[in-house]
Order: sequence, then C-alpha cells, then structure tokens
Amino acid sequence: MALTLAVLLCVSASLFAIVRAEDPYRFFDWNVTYGFIYPLGVRQQGILINGQFPGPDIHSVTNDNLIINVYNSLDEPFLLSWNGIQNRRNSFEDGVYGTTCPIPPGKNFTYILQVKDQIGSFYYFPSLAFHKAAGGFGGIRILSRPRIPVPFPDPSGDYTILIGDWYKTNHTDLKDHLDGGKKLPFPDGILVNGRGPNGYSLTVEQGKTYRLRISNVGLQHSLNFRIQNHKLKLVEVEGTHTLQTTYSSLDVHVGQSYSVLFTADQPGQDYYIVVSTRFTAPEVLTTTGVLHYSNSAGPVSGPPPGGPTIQIDWSLNQARSIRTNLTASGPRPNPQGSYHYGLINLTKTYILSSSAGQINDKQRYGFNSVSFVPADTPLKLADYYNIGGVFRVGSISDRPYGGALYLDTAVLGADYRAFVEFVFQNDEDIVQSLHLDGYSFFVVGMDGGQWTESSRNQYNLRDAVSRCTTQVYPNSWTAIYVALDNVGMWNLRSEFWARQYLGQQLYLRVYTTSTSLRDEYPIPKNARLCGKASGRHTRPL
Ligand SMILES: *[C@@H]1O[C@H](CO)[C@@H](O)[C@H](O)[C@H]1NC(C)=O
Ligand SMILES: *[C@@H]1O[C@H](CO)[C@@H](O)[C@H](O)[C@H]1NC(C)=O
Ligand SMILES: *[C@@H]1O[C@H](CO)[C@@H](O)[C@H](O)[C@H]1NC(C)=O
Ligand SMILES: *[C@@H]1O[C@H](CO)[C@@H](O)[C@H](O)[C@H]1NC(C)=O
Ligand SMILES: *[C@@H]1O[C@H](CO)[C@@H](O)[C@H](O)[C@H]1NC(C)=O
Repeated sequence: MALTLAVLLCVSASLFAIVRAEDPYRFFDWNVTYGFIYPLGVRQQGILINGQFPGPDIHSVTNDNLIINVYNSLDEPFLLSWNGIQNRRNSFEDGVYGTTCPIPPGKNFTYILQVKDQIGSFYYFPSLAFHKAAGGFGGIRILSRPRIPVPFPDPSGDYTILIGDWYKTNHTDLKDHLDGGKKLPFPDGILVNGRGPNGYSLTVEQGKTYRLRISNVGLQHSLNFRIQNHKLKLVEVEGTHTLQTTYSSLDVHVGQSYSVLFTADQPGQDYYIVVSTRFTAPEVLTTTGVLHYSNSAGPVSGPPPGGPTIQIDWSLNQARSIRTNLTASGPRPNPQGSYHYGLINLTKTYILSSSAGQINDKQRYGFNSVSFVPADTPLKLADYYNIGGVFRVGSISDRPYGGALYLDTAVLGADYRAFVEFVFQNDEDIVQSLHLDGYSFFVVGMDGGQWTESSRNQYNLRDAVSRCTTQVYPNSWTAIYVALDNVGMWNLRSEFWARQYLGQQLYLRVYTTSTSLRDEYPIPKNARLCGKASGRHTRPL
C-alpha cells in the first residue's frame, strides 16, 4: 500500500506539476469490468468498478487533488465524467467526448481533478455510448475543510443514496434501440444503491440524526423520495447549504443531488424507504427499501406512504422553496450571501428551447433546432491545437428561431468573465432536466408558459440556490444566471440520457485570448490523443 502510494506520488508529480503542493492528494486505482448483477432478479451484464455496483464513493475535502487511474477492461472505449465537479481551468479532465479522448479497451487513463473551492454532494458516471444504463456510477462527496463552519451538527452517519430508474434490457440493446430511431421505453424498475424492491436497508440508532446524500443517477424519470413517518430536513443542494426546510418527501429530478438530515425519532421498528416515479401516471413505478432501527421490535408495517405522482404545482412550489442560507458558509468561511449575484449586470442572454423531432425518420432531440452530433475529434483538443474543420463557434443560434431540427456539432461561444443569463424554454409536455459542466449557476426563476423579458420581474435575485442541474417543467421555463469564470469547453446537456444521446446537448466554449496559467491549464501530459489530434505533443516543444 505504502509502496503504491509512493509510486503514484512520483507519477502524479511528473504528470502534473501545476497542482498546488499544499493541497492534499487522494489516489484511486479503478478497474472497470463487466460483471453479472441481478438488481431486478434477472441476470444482467453490469459495469463494475473494482468489482462493485454501484462503484465506490469518492470521499474528499475542499481543494483536494484527486488522482484517479481508470483501467478500461471493457471491450469498448470508456470514459467517466464527474457530475458537478468543476475542473476549474481544466476542461481536459471533464471526461465527456467533447473534451477527452476515450480510454481504449485494455488501456488506462489517470484523471487529475482538483475539487477547488467546492463542497457538497455529486456523483460520477460513464459518459460514452449508453454505458450509464449498466452502472459505472458512484457518489462523490466533498467535505468542508476542518475549520470551516458547517451549518448543522455532525450527523451520526452520512450515507450515499443513488436512486434511478432501471431497465432489464442491457445497455447495448438500449443503444441499438435508440440508434434504430426509437424512443427510450418505459423502465422496468427503480433501484436504490443498485438494489431492487426491498433490497436496500439502512440501520440506524433511535434518537440519532443521519445525513443522506441522494442523487438521481437514472436515465429519465424524476423520482420522489420519502421515509415512512420521518421528516426530511434539506441542508445542501449540489454544493450550496440551503435554508433548512423540512419536507415529508422530496422530488429529485434526473441528474440532481440533495442532502437531507433525518432523525430516527419514531418507535423502534422498521420503516419503509420509498422511491416512486413522478409525472408518469397512470403508470407509477415504486420501489421500497427498509430503514431498520437497531432496537427494532418488528418489521415494516402498513402500506408504504404515498407521494405525489402527477402534481406539477407541488413540485414547482417545492423547487421555489429551496433557497440558499445566506448566512451559512460554503467552501470558505465567508457567508454564501456575500456574493450579490442579483446586483451584477447581465452581459448576454441565451435562450435555449428544447427541440424534439425526426430526422431521416429517426427520433432526435436538440436545442434551438440543432441536434448535436459528435465530431471526429474532441472539441477541446481541436481548439487547443487549432485544428480546423472540427467545429464552428456559433453553430447554434443563441435563441430559438423555429426552424426544423437538423444535425450539427453545436458550439455556443461565450466570453470569459461574462455574466450571463440562460433561459431554458420547454414547450414539450415532459419535465426536462438540464446540466452544465464546469459551473454552478443561480436558478433565478421558473414558471409556466413562455418566458418574456417581464418574467425577470419575478426572479429571485437574493437567495436563489446555486447548483449544476435544474429541472424545467412541462410547457414552462427556467432561468439561470452564470458567472463565466471557468475557461474551457463545457458540456450543456439534457440529463434525460436518451435525449442527450440523441442530440440534446451542446458545448459552451468559454474563451479568452489570454494564455496565462491563471486562466487555463495546458493539456495534461498524460492526455490521450485521438482523431485529428493523434500524434500531437502534449508537452511544450
Ligand atoms: C481488472 O479486472 C480483470 C478481471 O478481474 C482482470 O483480469 C484484470 O487483470 C484487472 N486489471 C487491472 C489493471 O487490475
Ligand atoms: C446485450 O444483450 C444482447 C442480447 O439481447 C447480447 O447480444 C449482447 O451481447 C448484450 N450486451 C452486453 C454488453 O452484455
Ligand atoms: C496508466 O497507469 C500507469 C500506472 O500504472 C501510469 O503510469 C500511466 O500514466 C497511466 N496512463 C495514463 C494515460 O494516464
Ligand atoms: C443558516 O445558517 C446559520 C449559520 O450556520 C444557522 O445558524 C441557521 O440556523 C441557518 N438557518 C436556516 C433557516 O437554515
Ligand atoms: C449596471 O448598469 C447600470 C446602468 O447601466 C449602472 O448604473 C451600474 O453601475 C451597473 N452596475 C454594475 C455593478 O456594474
């Protein structure tokens, strides 16, 4: 163990001399393999990390350097991406196909991440093909540094809860189905930490308080989470400490992460943990797990508690009630409210309207009529090496114009240090969930109907929550503010995985002419090179 560490230390020092030496390193050696799993009672080929499904959690502290060596033992190219990890100045490590070359079968790649100025709950997942349908995901937690106050007492236990819809059909068959031009079918079940109905159980001691870090790692459905007879106190959303509001259940849209506290304050017995699909009625998928008191006198009893199913207003009201606790600290000791985002003038507004339609008789999705198709070279590498003919900045309009859906490698241009507004307009009758890599953004407003400039009158310019994934309700809009302080090529995508796969994504190129290391790091020395970037040098000549 000590030897491995020493070897890795040398390796990492030579790989990347820029990370600040005073920030601690954490090393991970991960072997990605296929292996049989039985989450819904049938045998499936799952994607395992070090033999585990879901994969191991990453535990870290603000500013840690994470050195994650990933061996791809699958028979196809593979990449991991980091939902919510900002990879500041370093989009090369983002692990999506627009930034990072796939790890070929039988090869490895060492990610070098720094969780700079971050706290909170996130997750990682496999970003290529439709691997996410087979596993390969796991929790990421970033704890506050020791002397930074956290606005609640240390819980007696801190657990990752990965929930998500699941298919008995394997990922290659699902991908073939989408490649064939069809929509993603209805899932077969819901998993909690990789287990189907009554498969997951959590043991607690009466009187104690616990933290759950709940992430929806599923493919498409918003889920409602609840625990029989217990209240959930929301404390953190994707890196922001929230007003500590108590809920009887919580909507978790696909791709989102929430931390709640609950106290085991009920008579000693077992209780249901329930997760059910939202907005799918009349068909509702429900799964249960067990909250087991260590002094339990008996098994779960009564029916599992019901939750909201189709109610959109319920969900919208809950979303609006989620606010930043302005006096709590984030990654630094200063209050989260010391950054007055509501007083900064906007430099630009982007309006992105979701699009769905057929191209050549095949189902596709997009933004502003452009359905994304990957290029032959990661866009970030083409940009870095000035390789022409891979993408065009402005290949997607910054507002919808109503044209028919077409294919292109959509790249939206943006200026470093601009302060911008994105309006996500959803004219479809499903909930969307959208994510931006590299950033945390303020969710300033959401409402039904069409966004207009007067919609700004109802924005929350004081204590909106800052996060990386937001829902957009059916026939509704959501508006966000983002300070573009992270240079790079950043994926903006639907977290509804079939929509992402079939084109509802783009890259935001946050650009500066500066070549200073203060603004962006050079390509990592161990970067894999592919496509038109093959054979280039990663070291300065
Ligand atoms: C990964 O696991 C497979 C299957 O157990 C094994 O054959 C292979 O040697 C492992 N690779 C590494 C790098 O540990
Ligand atoms: C998925 O299932 C099909 C048969 O339905 C099989 O041919 C294919 O190899 C499977 N893929 C994986 C990764 O197990
Ligand atoms: C693959 O792992 C080895 C250590 O086993 C490391 O030296 C090498 O840099 C890694 N390759 C990449 C591309 O990160
Ligand atoms: C906000 O954070 C402060 C400072 O940690 C804490 O004392 C207070 O209880 C929190 N307020 C709410 C409503 O969560
Ligand atoms: C924003 O713009 C207004 C009007 O142009 C100007 O008076 C104000 O100083 C600006 N505020 C900031 C913070 O730049």
